[in-house]
Amino acid sequence: MRIALGVSGGIAAYKAAELLRLLQDRGLEIQVVMTRAAQEFVTPLTFAALSGRRVITGMFENPGEALPGESAIEHIAVAQGAEAVVIAPATADVLARLAHGIADDFLTTLALATRAPVIVAPSMNVNMWEHPATQANMAVLRERGVQVVEPGAGYLACGMTGSGRMAEVLEIAESVFRALHLRDDFENETLLVTAGPTHEPLDPVRYLGNRSSGKMGFAFAQAGLRRRGRVLLVSGPTHLEAPSGINVARVETAGQMAEAVLEWLPQATVVIMTAAVADFQATSVVGHKIKKQDGTLTLQLRPTRDILSEVRSQRRPGQCVVGFAAETDHVLENAAAKLHSKSLDLIVANDVTQEGAGFAVDTNIATILFPDGRREALPQMTKLQLADRVLDAVAELRKCS
Ligand SMILES: Cc1cc2nc3c(=O)[nH]c(=O)nc-3n(C[C@H](O)[C@H](O)[C@H](O)COP(=O)(O)O)c2cc1C
Repeated sequence: MRIALGVSGGIAAYKAAELLRLLQDRGLEIQVVMTRAAQEFVTPLTFAALSGRRVITGMFENPGEALPGESAIEHIAVAQGAEAVVIAPATADVLARLAHGIADDFLTTLALATRAPVIVAPSMNVNMWEHPATQANMAVLRERGVQVVEPGAGYLACGMTGSGRMAEVLEIAESVFRALHLRDDFENETLLVTAGPTHEPLDPVRYLGNRSSGKMGFAFAQAGLRRRGRVLLVSGPTHLEAPSGINVARVETAGQMAEAVLEWLPQATVVIMTAAVADFQATSVVGHKIKKQDGTLTLQLRPTRDILSEVRSQRRPGQCVVGFAAETDHVLENAAAKLHSKSLDLIVANDVTQEGAGFAVDTNIATILFPDGRREALPQMTKLQLADRVLDAVAELRKCS
């Protein structure tokens, strides 16, 4: 799910780069769509570099492949995938085309094809803004439910003074957050999240690892940001990109993860341990590549550091600690035992053998276990939705504590 950020050809186009950052800082993924005129003001490269995604600059440029569940027709795919479409700056021309249902470029076609809320931030010369044609178009758009972030008055780039100056980017960003019903309930919280697997080296080229992708932990980072939390993410080796606006420590081994977690622990108010930390490491790491040989090879392993136990012994009163139990059998019993033995506030149990749950997939099926014996069995949902449900449970606990 992402936000489509439409940039049209006004002098304020450069401000869309700042808006992009503000949206990213709340954990939102942004797909930028530029009109042809917009590209006269700012290059697509700027937005591609900031968003980490290809910028859509035309209707017929990418007759591409579809992602699973998405349309192969790109404007339909973006329209389906967008949680909101925000157009900033919105030129007089784009507003006119929107008002009349004209779909002659990617942005206006997308705006017609989407069911997501559309937010526009008009920006233009005062005479253009006050022109009856523009005002009539605005009336039509407002009537149709398009959300308008009203332009302010002041000195305009054209040298005139008056109305038509694009609203402050912060105000536009807040309108997007409101449209998405993003909550602020983690505003005073610092979330320390662990994610991914750990790799325990055997020799210079090999390691012991597991199939964790890191997606669950990264989903927590995103969910925390969306709820205005401060996020500290300690991630094992993954291919995932961290959302901007969070602090990330990338580590390899369980030992390194333990160090990073303990360093950040004093700052955290909520600790969420989703990483699939290796349980064992080699007793000694061979300094050269182990050669293939006939017969069997025996590896000697010893337990890795128990990060949860170390967190337990160093946690401050008032810190909320959430564990994850990825199990293949006796899922709830094992999770309940871990909840008590590690003195956790919550544990999220999931059976990684179930289809649609566990490692590498985008969904999960989990049960939240509370220390008082309550259990909340959740249906299959995206990892981001699950992260939100777990944060709801954390928020509930913090209200009572
Ligand atoms: C230097 C310059 C600045 C412009 N600034 C604006 C502006 O702020 N707002 C606006 O509505 N049009 C502005 N225009 C006119 C638009 O670029 C023009 O109407 C264009 O067709 C808009 O295309 P688009 O709506 O597809 O992006 C400007 C044109 C130039 C040459």
